[in-house]
Amino acid sequence: MKYNITQTIKYIGVDDTDLDLFESQYIIPNGISYNSYIIIDQKIAIMDSVDSRKYDEWAANIANALEGRTPDYLIVQHMEPDHSGSLASIAVLYPNMKIVASERAIKMLPQFFYECDLLDRTIAVKEGDTLALGNHILQFYMAPMVHWPEVMVTYEQSEKVLFSADAWGKFGALCHDEEWACEARRYYFNICGKYGQPVQTLLKKAKALDIAHICPLHGPILSDNLSYYIGLYDTWSRYEPEAKGVFIAYASIHGGTAVAAHKFADMLKERGVEKVSIMDLCRDDMAEAVEDAFKYDRMVIAASSYDASLFPPMYDFLHHLQLKGFQKRRVGIIENGSWAPCAGRVMRGMLEQMKDIEIAEPMVTILSRLKPENNKAMETLADTLAK
Ligand code: FEO
Repeated sequence: MKYNITQTIKYIGVDDTDLDLFESQYIIPNGISYNSYIIIDQKIAIMDSVDSRKYDEWAANIANALEGRTPDYLIVQHMEPDHSGSLASIAVLYPNMKIVASERAIKMLPQFFYECDLLDRTIAVKEGDTLALGNHILQFYMAPMVHWPEVMVTYEQSEKVLFSADAWGKFGALCHDEEWACEARRYYFNICGKYGQPVQTLLKKAKALDIAHICPLHGPILSDNLSYYIGLYDTWSRYEPEAKGVFIAYASIHGGTAVAAHKFADMLKERGVEKVSIMDLCRDDMAEAVEDAFKYDRMVIAASSYDASLFPPMYDFLHHLQLKGFQKRRVGIIENGSWAPCAGRVMRGMLEQMKDIEIAEPMVTILSRLKPENNKAMETLADTLAK
């Protein structure tokens, strides 16, 4: 098979390249993979199932890898349907196969699969428990809230493989060979971003293990330079910026705010800011805007006033940042309004609800269009943020 990890641990997952939106909200231009693995020994274990959209392909991969044998265990690390969607179907196909999962995951089984009774086939495992397959020994570590509460990861001792559930996953099907960090970062902050502390706890457990391969539930198997991937997860989960730079997010109704945002980007570049990234919240990918907000150490938000409040695309963006635990950043504000500007007040209020946000002064207020009279405030804010 194409993505085998070792002689006895094989990839049996599937690509999904025609799903419109992952989790009904994230665009995935290069699709997504639902990873699953099989460990062949005296006993045979399958690591996780796949989304029900791809059951037939996955079942065929399993049958091919089994070479006439039958699986003894299905290890369920995460119950979200992109991984448990084919669980009941495969359990029916292999009626003697046991389902190994955390207690919390086992409690969820009837929620998702009330039509069939799977509970008498389950083995509940807890922190540190082991399961011997022969030469291969699986050891289970609980990883609650990376990304759901029932999540666990599994370490295979003989070949030093960490099956990491959603951790170190990324958007993008495996048939697309692409740089890891960009889509892994967009995946991390939008899906696991809120759960920095649980990710830190998992990192501490991983640090005590000798790991040769990380096998996530999405994206490529990681076997080289693991300290790079582990280091990025450490940075991200501590909410530390990954790079110096300013991310400018703007939401403009008729273009006046957009002009101001682009002018401000030019002013930052003139001042030698390391990197300036700019996005139109009305048209660009919201998930990528969230990603860039976390990536850089500074941010500027520019938006129109609307219905005595804030233009909804900016409200939506800031609400996303609130949900994902955005913190530890310096932020400048540019507001626009044609008769009673109030966007700045709302933006400031939303930022003040976040942790360790320093608002850079002065807030710039534009009346309809950027004019020479705005230059002083724009220059002062640019000076402040360029430092
Ligand atoms: Fe890939 Fe949280 O499921």
